[in-house]
Amino acid sequence: MPSKSAPVAGQSALAALKKSSSKTSLNGKPTQVKTVGVLTSGGDCSGLNATLRGVVKTLINDYGVKVIGYRDGFRGMIENDYQQLTLTHVSGILSIGGTILGTSNKANPFRQYQPKTGEFKDVSKKVVADAKKLGIDALIAIGGDGTMSMAARFTEMGLPTVGIPKTIDNDLMATDLTFGFYTAVEIVKESIDRINTTAMSHHRVMVIEVMGRYAGWIALYGGVAGGADVILIPEIPYSIDAVAEACARRNKEGKGFTIIVIAEGAKPIGGDITVQKIVKDSFDQVRLGGVGMQLQAELEKKLGRIEVRVTVLGHLQRGGTPTAFDRILSTRFGAYAAGMVMRGEFAMMAALRGSEIVSVPISDVAGKNKFVSPDHELIRAAKSLGTSFGEPKR
Ligand code: F6P
Repeated sequence: MPSKSAPVAGQSALAALKKSSSKTSLNGKPTQVKTVGVLTSGGDCSGLNATLRGVVKTLINDYGVKVIGYRDGFRGMIENDYQQLTLTHVSGILSIGGTILGTSNKANPFRQYQPKTGEFKDVSKKVVADAKKLGIDALIAIGGDGTMSMAARFTEMGLPTVGIPKTIDNDLMATDLTFGFYTAVEIVKESIDRINTTAMSHHRVMVIEVMGRYAGWIALYGGVAGGADVILIPEIPYSIDAVAEACARRNKEGKGFTIIVIAEGAKPIGGDITVQKIVKDSFDQVRLGGVGMQLQAELEKKLGRIEVRVTVLGHLQRGGTPTAFDRILSTRFGAYAAGMVMRGEFAMMAALRGSEIVSVPISDVAGKNKFVSPDHELIRAAKSLGTSFGEPKR
């Protein structure tokens, strides 16, 4: 069950500190927080800076806490590379993409790649000891599912940690949304709008490959927002014949062009996902990509003289300024997570449930992924409007 305790943010620094030093945490441990470490980990996305701003300003303004930022995610913890974060450091960063701290999807204290030997080593004990030496009382880890698993393990090892969910993929359990997702969706929508006009002029089939790993959230939401004619997601394996038929049908109806949005993790019925490369020293070693080109080749065989072109949106979806929605969500997550630390809600993650921000146990999130249900209300709505999901005729 999510904890619905009201955020402490807003109380005077003195009152909150008194409260934190006299009370015990939810885990039964005394909460005396004077210094908090923070890091951004995994693939970046829009809203990381807005979240850091929320964390740092709340910790300093409301609780008088010192904040240490680790550089490049867990690499900073492993190599003791950090800096104090003051109000000045986080001023003016709300609208800026990326992360002022840097990030890494390779550094992993529990399984750190050793380039010399090619082996993996657990350096987590040293990392926790170094953090303690530095005076870190608690850590706020901003990241995806891999980061959340580490947050839970650090708490068990005596470094109390709170998580904030981040990923453009929106595939984290226990939260309705992650920040960065709606900015990515906005970029997909904008790209479809632009590709639409050239598709119309040349009477082409345009394939737009989007990110999302093994989940179809970006393709579904971006595709619906851009009015795509065909949306292909990992959760619904597609029939190439059904996709070709949808294009041919539009031509017959005199539309003369088709927009197809395909998630990088989509696969044909009976086929496999398209792997671009394996990154050995990364949390998640598989990099997806290339399914759009594959679809192009297959479609061209079926469509004869109709031309098919592909656009891979790639990292455009992760860069640039966050939307108003993501700036607000990031600010809320950041301020709330600062309160979680002061209330001792460790091994917990800030989450959005409906319109409320709540605390959920990291065990509900770690090692799990949230997928699109083929019966999702948005899929049903899109189908009613004539969008094809590449399903074969029954
Ligand atoms: O998880 C975020 C994400 O952008 C995925 O959508 C994508 O598959 C992956 O990261 C790309 O990773 P990299 O930046 O290492 O290429």
